[in-house]
Amino acid sequence: MSVTLNVNGARREFDGDPNTPLLWVIRDELGLTGTKYGCGIAQCGACTVHVDGAPVRSCSFPVSGAAGKKITTIEGLAQGATLHKVQQAWINNDVPQCGYCQSGMIMAVAALLKEKPKPTDADIDGAITNICRCGTFQQVREAIHAAANGNAKV
Ligand code: FES
Ligand code: FES
Repeated sequence: MSVTLNVNGARREFDGDPNTPLLWVIRDELGLTGTKYGCGIAQCGACTVHVDGAPVRSCSFPVSGAAGKKITTIEGLAQGATLHKVQQAWINNDVPQCGYCQSGMIMAVAALLKEKPKPTDADIDGAITNICRCGTFQQVREAIHAAANGNAKV
C-alpha cells in the first residue's frame, strides 16, 4: 500500500505495510537519522517528531496515521540557517551530553512551547517525560525557561 507523506515540507511516498512504525520510514526509507530509536515502546521519547504540530513517539505510531499530515523531524525544525529557539537555548545552556536523547527532547520541548509559551516547572514535568540516560534534566529545565524568555543573556 502507498502512503503519501509530507516530511519537512516535502512530499514523500512510502510503499509498504501501513502498520510500519513511522520511525522506521523516517530513518530507513527517508534517511533522516536525527530521530533516534531508544525503547521502541513509547516510553523514552527519543523518537519524538511532530505530526501536525503535536509531539508523537514515532516508534509506536503507524505510518498510515501520518498520511496527509505534516510531519516535522529534527532536520526540519530550523528555518534555513536560523535555529529554532529551543535549539539555540540548547547550545547556549550546554544541554547535551552524549546527545542520543536530545533530538527527541528538543522536539517535545518545541511542541510544549507552542502550546504553552511560558511553561511552569509543573507544566514541564507534565509534558516532558523523555528519558535521558546522561541525566541532563536540570539543564533541560533551565534551557526551556531560557527559550521561553527569548534566550536573553543574563
Ligand atoms: S524509541 Fe520511541 S519512545 Fe523510546
Ligand atoms: S544526553 Fe545522553 S541520553 Fe540524554
